[in-house]
Amino acid sequence: MFQLPTRQGHDPDHMYREIIDLVSAVTDGEQDLIANLANTASVLYHMLPDVNWAGFYLLKDNELVLGPFHGKPACIRIAIGRGVCGTSARDMRTVVVDNVHEYPGHIACDAQSASEIVVPMVDGGILVGVLDVDSPLVSRFGDIDRQYLEQLVQLLMSRCRP
Ligand code: SME
Repeated sequence: MFQLPTRQGHDPDHMYREIIDLVSAVTDGEQDLIANLANTASVLYHMLPDVNWAGFYLLKDNELVLGPFHGKPACIRIAIGRGVCGTSARDMRTVVVDNVHEYPGHIACDAQSASEIVVPMVDGGILVGVLDVDSPLVSRFGDIDRQYLEQLVQLLMSRCRP
């Protein structure tokens, strides 16, 4: 079985390198998208500090539908352009929200969430879905999170057959 490394110190580069190494290990030789997203959601939820939800929405019939995640139950369908996830999907760009309570159109799934990062999953120019990570802390996510989570999504897209 795979072992989750214990969190040591607060060096975000080191932490994200461990996360990417672990996701690389758990997805090695596996092309099934759902299986790989499920394990990735688990890794992110357990290894990222101050996170209360980590998971995926997948594009189906031109809307986002809830995929594998860790955290409290979440809303199931999100229209393209709605909320943080729908905005990221529509624009195919990462969206970082420092305070979700000040974000017009934010879709509240867990009342605990205060900040959020959403990274689009794009394969060969085609939108596959989004990665969404929520935190109970305001301004939890910054450039380092963006950089490594985008790298993580690229790794997943290179591994999986949607
Ligand atoms: N807050 C998101 C919806 C998904 S949940 O956070 C899991 C949004 O506004 O798109």
